[in-house]
Amino acid sequence: MKIYTERVRKLINPFFYTQKWPEFSFLDQWPSTAEIDCEIGFWDGTFLLDQAKKNPQKNYLGIEIRHQSLSTTTQYAANYKNIALVHGHAATLFEKWVPASVFSNIYIFFPDPWGKGRHLKRRLINQPFFELCVKVLKPQGKIWIQTDDLDYAEAIHKLLGQVFPKSFVTYSQDPWEHYPTFWKKKKILEGKQIHSFQVELRSN
Ligand SMILES: C[S@@+](CC[C@H](N)C(=O)[O-])C[C@H]1O[C@@H](n2cnc3c(N)ncnc32)[C@H](O)[C@@H]1O
Repeated sequence: MKIYTERVRKLINPFFYTQKWPEFSFLDQWPSTAEIDCEIGFWDGTFLLDQAKKNPQKNYLGIEIRHQSLSTTTQYAANYKNIALVHGHAATLFEKWVPASVFSNIYIFFPDPWGKGRHLKRRLINQPFFELCVKVLKPQGKIWIQTDDLDYAEAIHKLLGQVFPKSFVTYSQDPWEHYPTFWKKKKILEGKQIHSFQVELRSN
């Protein structure tokens, strides 16, 4: 397991954190033929660790902005050669650090919904973010999104249908429908409905 992080300061608002990204690449540690999946916001690492264990032939990059999650998951993932963890904002990393056409799958389970109004701009999934996904995904690479926030789900639905119909194909089967991430279990207990999106990058 490789961890890419730098000295972390106590942050008032992590979204204003500008980080000097390391020069080295997560690609250097893995064979160039192996598939790479990326999970954004892995929290306690449940999904990432489970997938890495079940699919030793694949590699997993976990991106997390919350330092506590990174510290905890780092301990659990210490013996996994197919996991790399990076601390930071996924959009910034996709823009400045991740090369083009590397990921087979991007998983985003329960991204922070933020409220309406002035905090809305903090949402991870928006038009610029999908444009970055077009860059980092391989042709026919997939994005898997789940959220319990109806407003966020509607915004994602609108983006996919109106802004990106030529870039992405969306479909309805969801193999992760019953996958119990920490946040999904919490939201189901609260009686929330789960909305999911399965998106594939067109190969043309
Ligand atoms: C609501 S939790 C969901 C955690 C986990 N995916 C689950 O389903 O249990 C959202 C996670 O995304 C992380 N996160 C929020 N914004 C992020 C960003 N811009 N880049 C990377 N991680 C982010 C949070 O720190 C948190 O771990």
